[in-house]
Amino acid sequence: MKMCPSAWIFVLLLLEAMFPIAIGNMENLVLTTLDQSPDLIPEISEDELQLLQSKNHRSKEKAGKSMGHGNTPLNRIHHSHGTAQKPILTYCTMNNLFCLASNYSKYVPPIDTTKKEGIKPLDVSIGFDNFEILKIDDRDFTVEINAYLIVKWRDTRVIIDFAQLYPDGVVPNEDLLGAPDWIPVELEMVSKLWLPDSEILRLKGFHSLSVLERLQGLWMSVRHEVLYVVATRIRFMCPMNYAKFPIDIQTCKFQIGSFNYDNTKMRYHTYYLPKLPNATESILDFEVHIKPLLPTERYYLPQETGNYSVAGFRMVMERKISHYVITYYLPSGLFVVVSWASFLIPADDIQGRMALLVTLFLVLVNIFNAITTNSPKADGLNALQAWIITCIFFVFGALLEYSVILLQLKLHSIQKCANDINGASASNGTLSVKVLRKNQMVARFDLVCLVFFPLLFLLFTSVYCLVMII
Ligand SMILES: *[C@@H]1O[C@H](CO)[C@@H](O)[C@H](O)[C@H]1NC(C)=O
Ligand SMILES: *[C@@H]1O[C@H](CO)[C@@H](O)[C@H](O)[C@H]1NC(C)=O
Ligand SMILES: *[C@@H]1O[C@H](CO)[C@@H](O)[C@H](O)[C@H]1NC(C)=O
Repeated sequence: MKMCPSAWIFVLLLLEAMFPIAIGNMENLVLTTLDQSPDLIPEISEDELQLLQSKNHRSKEKAGKSMGHGNTPLNRIHHSHGTAQKPILTYCTMNNLFCLASNYSKYVPPIDTTKKEGIKPLDVSIGFDNFEILKIDDRDFTVEINAYLIVKWRDTRVIIDFAQLYPDGVVPNEDLLGAPDWIPVELEMVSKLWLPDSEILRLKGFHSLSVLERLQGLWMSVRHEVLYVVATRIRFMCPMNYAKFPIDIQTCKFQIGSFNYDNTKMRYHTYYLPKLPNATESILDFEVHIKPLLPTERYYLPQETGNYSVAGFRMVMERKISHYVITYYLPSGLFVVVSWASFLIPADDIQGRMALLVTLFLVLVNIFNAITTNSPKADGLNALQAWIITCIFFVFGALLEYSVILLQLKLHSIQKCANDINGASASNGTLSVKVLRKNQMVARFDLVCLVFFPLLFLLFTSVYCLVMII
């Protein structure tokens, strides 16, 4: 199949018009075609054409709408003619150090798509500075933080005036330069530059902080690196499980990634993890440790569109237990111990024994109610509620034991009355022996309980501690 070159270009232009995204091979083809003499135009089979079409089509779907602006084939061709002279600059910083060319589009990410050997993904680094945890809300399942969000990436399309930086004309190799020297750039540049389309997973609220002006900054280096810092307040969701409350350890993930570009185009890295100031630790209910994300948490897979790289950190939050020990565990445990004193009170002192047990019972029920209103919701009982319920059952057991004794005494007195009415001539001696035996039996029952209850409570406490610690 032989075509004349002009017809060939026409076909390509037509194709480009139909699929207006000019990236990848297609664009190369247009440019090279124009530079070559007509004789050298390679033949392209129908299959290859189809491949090109489908490729172009796919990249259109993936890249989203934002990539389409200002790249019609015509202005491409126009610029390719003018490669010899300097690019037309549309915006320069005040010191004329960093400039943007007229074909710079802030909607196109600085990914080099023209390389033959596949696309090298753009690396976006995320860091956190001045990190503070404002609130950990265990009813709303949210965490609120203040931080300077630091985003770093490379935009090779920024034109740097090396002559100004190195007047002696010796430009060091990019790889040999040490740590980047960040040169502050005025903020007007922010609106002209491409910024990463970052999203935060499970986001509930994002505010950039401002005092008189929005708190943000932009720096650039001679290695084409861009550093954007913005002071933010971020609220994000964190699923929590309260089955072990208040001996629970919660893990929250803060993940930030690209919204549009999957991991073949953009890769997110954690630049540095947040450092916690010592002061705020004390006001929170939790002791917080910042850990890096696990390998399985460094990507996420939304429905359909691919594998997205994410950066971020994990917050491991350990609840401070001492407050709960002092206000709940210790008093309720002591109440159970006090309830054992009832076994020492003589059985015929009904008021004394009853008053003690019923008071303890009511106090424990009251503590249980307070916990239920104050603790976050768990499926079923949480650990603290389970503890208090068991304490209530221990006091209830002592109450039950005394009821059994009272029942015995009652039955005994009924029998005695019956005997008296029947006029049974039981001698005084046998009667008093019977009463003595009864009292002895009751005292022995109390003594057995006095040993049995503490043993059972000790067993329960050890099992409880064991289950909680594991
Ligand atoms: C912009 O134009 C210059 C030539 O003027 C070219 O080298 C460069 O690749 C173009 N950049 C983009 C993003 O098209
Ligand atoms: C915070 O605590 C660490 C050790 O736990 C200490 O080295 C550091 O100086 C403390 N920072 C402040 C600001 O107190
Ligand atoms: C997503 O990408 C990461 C690395 O970039 C890889 O470890 C992971 O297995 C990928 N997941 C799937 C489901 O392809």
